[in-house]
Amino acid sequence: MNEPREHGLETRGLGRTHLHVTRLGLGLAALGRPGYINLGHAEDLDRQYRREQMRAGAHAVLDQAWACGIRYFDAARSYGGAEAFLGSWLASRSVAADACTVGSKWGYRYTADWKIDAKVHEQKEHSVERLREQWPESCEQLGDHLDVYMIHSATIESGVLDRVDVLEELARIRATGVAIGLSVSGPRQAETARRAFEVEVDGGLLFDVVQATWNVLERSAESVLRDAHRAGVGILLKETLANGRLTQRNNEPEFRTRREILAREAERIGTSIENLALAAALANEWADVVLSGATTPAQAIDNVGAASITIDDQTQSVLVELAEDSETYWATRSRLSWN
Ligand SMILES: NC(=O)c1ccc[n+]([C@@H]2O[C@H](COP(=O)([O-])OP(=O)(O)OC[C@H]3O[C@@H](n4cnc5c(N)ncnc54)[C@H](OP(=O)(O)O)[C@@H]3O)[C@@H](O)[C@H]2O)c1
Repeated sequence: MNEPREHGLETRGLGRTHLHVTRLGLGLAALGRPGYINLGHAEDLDRQYRREQMRAGAHAVLDQAWACGIRYFDAARSYGGAEAFLGSWLASRSVAADACTVGSKWGYRYTADWKIDAKVHEQKEHSVERLREQWPESCEQLGDHLDVYMIHSATIESGVLDRVDVLEELARIRATGVAIGLSVSGPRQAETARRAFEVEVDGGLLFDVVQATWNVLERSAESVLRDAHRAGVGILLKETLANGRLTQRNNEPEFRTRREILAREAERIGTSIENLALAAALANEWADVVLSGATTPAQAIDNVGAASITIDDQTQSVLVELAEDSETYWATRSRLSWN
């Protein structure tokens, strides 16, 4: 699996790092554990929850994503077996370290014990102790494939961006050649990202990469991300289908009108709701990687189709009307049930 990057997906440099990425990447949040908040997660997994079944399922999606040209993969310590599944896939397919780009995250511990109805699925701690514990664990699973290490869902309130011991430890990891980043979530994601881009250790900027939520319902980070891109920060977009809310599966009554608008526009340009939403994310020139959250090989194939869709001004003007205010968006997300 070490063939040169000859595939249909556009490739580019990731901000000021030395890394190269495909514009479409694959995230493993939904592939690493039985429970997740994406709308149809249980059906996607066909309720095949044994660890070997989940590993095989993740490998099948990774195989399909690779065959479609995807060369960026995103995991986290807290995504159940995601790092282990990705690591065993990279090894079993003999993928060379420079044949793809891999990111992972620290800060949450997986606590669901493979149960869907767990009381606490993930436990967050942005301390230097947690970083020192999880960095070697990530290295053990991903070895020299690990290119980007991110704080998982950094927030202003957690104080992580002011913790000198954490920032210095991250700078030490950066000095080994790994790009350092953070993911941001919640109604203050833009503010958190802006604050992070000012963080310096030993007179140099610390953060090379940010992963933020952007989709046609939640655009609040847009101007921060555009500025950061100009300044050389690598930009990764997550939750571009709003955890499945921007798919045909979304039957929320309050979404009906917007779903009809999406369906009409998708039909007009000859695509599906899902690919319209993904193509809208890809149309942001300032975004280096748009993560697909495909949970089945069929979804991976389907998602790749978004890369060949052009979003014109007419479509933009329809989509821009669908945005929610950020507080509403994140309150709705927090009500999604684990399944
Ligand atoms: N804080 C963080 O750092 C953070 C948070 C979240 C995500 N992420 C990263 O971002 C990645 C992507 O985010 P995400 O998976 O949470 O959300 P997403 O991309 O918004 O949603 C993905 C979901 O959309 C549905 N879908 C995809 N293609 C489809 C198709 N063709 N037809 C119908 N439904 C389709 C599937 O859900 P169904 O189950 O409904 O089929 C899929 O699991 C994650 O894997 C993770 O790597 C990071």
